[in-house]
Amino acid sequence: MVSTANVQHPADILRGPALLDDAEHSKGTAFTVKERAEYGLEGLLPPAVETLDRQLERVMEHLDAKPNDLERYIYLIGLEDRNETLFYKTLMSDPARFIPIVYDPTVADACLTFGHIYRRARGMYITRDMKGRIAQVLRNWPERDVRFVCVSTGGRILGLGDIGANGMGIPIGKLQLYTACAAVPPDCLLPVLLDIGTTNEALRADPLYLGLREPPLPQAELDALVDEFVEAVLQVFPGCCVHFEDWKGTDALRLLPRYKDKILCYNDDIQGTAAIGLAGLTTALEIIDAPLTAQRILFFGAGSAAIGNANLMVSAMQAKGLSLDEARGRISMFDINGLIEPSRKDLNEWQKVYARKAAPSRDLLATIETFKPTVLIGVSTKGGAFNQAVVEAMSKLNERPIIFALSNPTDKAECTAEQAYTWSKGNALYAAGVQFPEVILNGKTFHPGQANNFYIFPAIGLATYVARPRLLTDACFIVAAQASADQVGPEMRAKGMLFPGQGEILEMEVTTATRVAEYMFDQGLAQVKRPRDIRAWIEGQLYQPHY
Ligand code: NAI
Repeated sequence: MVSTANVQHPADILRGPALLDDAEHSKGTAFTVKERAEYGLEGLLPPAVETLDRQLERVMEHLDAKPNDLERYIYLIGLEDRNETLFYKTLMSDPARFIPIVYDPTVADACLTFGHIYRRARGMYITRDMKGRIAQVLRNWPERDVRFVCVSTGGRILGLGDIGANGMGIPIGKLQLYTACAAVPPDCLLPVLLDIGTTNEALRADPLYLGLREPPLPQAELDALVDEFVEAVLQVFPGCCVHFEDWKGTDALRLLPRYKDKILCYNDDIQGTAAIGLAGLTTALEIIDAPLTAQRILFFGAGSAAIGNANLMVSAMQAKGLSLDEARGRISMFDINGLIEPSRKDLNEWQKVYARKAAPSRDLLATIETFKPTVLIGVSTKGGAFNQAVVEAMSKLNERPIIFALSNPTDKAECTAEQAYTWSKGNALYAAGVQFPEVILNGKTFHPGQANNFYIFPAIGLATYVARPRLLTDACFIVAAQASADQVGPEMRAKGMLFPGQGEILEMEVTTATRVAEYMFDQGLAQVKRPRDIRAWIEGQLYQPHY
């Protein structure tokens, strides 16, 4: 079935060049002879009338001719500016091929060079200078039925640190994945860059930088600005879900509890990452037939991704019978200043609960030898930190060590798939934040998993789009994690895969969204009437890229 986004007709409003220039409604060379006559398009297009599939063929030719993925990214964003339907037709024709171009890892290059590759504005830029009138500014957005605002300050983009307004590539890319992966209609999605200034002096000095050239706001002023922003979003777009993305870790951890029990919102770096970590861990433990409650989990990195993962794992362990203290006791963390332990003076309130009674240490290997982790999770942005000695130490302690190198982009991964499999002699249950190629070791082929939250957040988005919940609780993310794990069949597990394949991503997201929506109905979170067949009801609301 076609979403309302597709059937709306612009002819009454737009004609001639204005219609051709309107990306949401333009069909380019696919306007029929009758439409060309009706909408004043005669003579403005070459005579051939093409199908969407023929147009897709041309797009593929253009993409094949591009020298690298950044150029493909630039081309695809330009295509979205000209013809949104064709853009999504392209992405949805082969998500596994296009996700790494519109999102990680290519989006990292796109963000780093954002001011240099900029063509035209997309989404909204809300700046600190708009304080007091943010609602008025949001009203400049042409769509009224905005269901998701994905907002970043650019304060911690992937593993690239603070890149200020250049971070806009992330909310844009994240929301594109709502549609490309889970068929959420694109016209209800609004990417926002909340420009609070940046610590990045090199960027502030770059003549082509497009953001405010000021240091970031102090915390109290930032929080007041975010309060106003959130209120304004809800006032201008009632029922909208606020998706926080790639904020500085401490801002993310401080702000999520401020809103999560009051308004419809989530932080993907904390909750989405946690769910995908839990999903991968669930599958890995099912492969080795070991209970979650018996694991010792060491996080390398203790920022928002580590805390989010740890908290969700603790909740999952509690659900399986451990007390809060017992569950927390199964987790340890190690960050840029070493082991998280009680004598450290630099710990924030979220880290303190994971401080392990042990002597201070800045030596990861020594920490592994004393804590004896069964699971090692890298969320540090420190590429290569899991060296041969680290992987071998994990392998000595565990027949099947579970090693996740989640940092993005590619060069930040704590170890590559090849390293993990080689150094563990093929025994590691491994996942990375990016998709590494298959590894062949002693004649056996390993398929490294990509622990990327795109297995979770588009499905959460789709469930939220249809069920319109009051809130997104942590349990919604646990349900999504289990749904993801349940979709990794025995054959996939035998190849070392910890996550569903990317080939059938829409099918997978719909399955997960169905489970999450069911949960929302069961818990009284949903604000629409429960349909008899939830899956069929969701399928009927999926965006389809056709004219
Ligand atoms: P963050 O900035 O909040 O935390 C980074 C942590 O790493 C801090 O605790 C810091 O002390 C630690 N760290 C930095 N350098 C270190 C070093 N040399 N040795 C030990 N620890 C070090 O960042 P956040 O949000 O926690 O993200 C971390 C990484 O995880 C990023 O690369 C991000 O792209 C990745 N990530 C991956 C996701 C996925 O789906 N695979 C999802 C979310 C984040």
